Amino acid sequence: MKGTARNFFTIAVIYSLVGMSLGLHMAMSQDHSQLPTHAHIMVLGWLMSAVFAVFYHLVPGAGASMLAKIHFWIAALSSLGMFIGLFILYGGDPSIEPLLGVSAMVYFAGTFLFAFIALSALWRASPASAAHHIPAE
Ligand code: HEM
Ligand code: HEM
Repeated sequence: MKGTARNFFTIAVIYSLVGMSLGLHMAMSQDHSQLPTHAHIMVLGWLMSAVFAVFYHLVPGAGASMLAKIHFWIAALSSLGMFIGLFILYGGDPSIEPLLGVSAMVYFAGTFLFAFIALSALWRASPASAAHHIPAE
């Protein structure tokens, strides 16, 4: 795994540790007020990023593109904004909502870009070149 795939997998693993630490803290303190923060760090941070990493690894033609790099930076920065925003919001300060809203919309735009990258790569490929995309190792 290299390039954008490796970048996505790196942030995925970091988010899995951060999200589980928050989950453990919630369980031990019996204060579940950060449930949405934990849930989104786990599924949006860990699982979504890991799925993007695996896709870009399996389809290296898409993974090496400039659009994939742009998708990575959009996703990395906006997910960080979302998680900080969620943490502050569920910590009891609703004034952070603008950051949360903008970050969520930017993350959505990044996922829209991913839809374009992924679907155009998959449907452009002929069966023979699609098979070629599967790494031999
Ligand atoms: C060290 C491991 C983990 C701990 C201690 C932990 C702890 C918790 C706790 C205390 C809650 C709140 C439950 C409630 O109030 O109903 C929760 C909810 C949640 N956790 Fe975790 N969690 C862990 C790992 C994970 C993982 C690996 C994922 C997903 C990949 C995950 C996804 C979720 C989701 C989606 C919710 C929200 C569920 C709902 O909407 O009711 N958690 N977790
Ligand atoms: C632009 C991105 C997203 C926005 C704005 C968003 C927004 C929300 C909102 C408002 C809730 C209800 C929170 C509550 O009051 O309990 C929620 C819950 C949830 N979302 Fe998302 N979501 C986003 C992305 C995702 C993604 C990508 C996933 C899964 C991969 C996901 C999984 C969940 C789950 C499991 C819950 C239930 C746990 C909870 O209550 O926090 N979300 N989301």
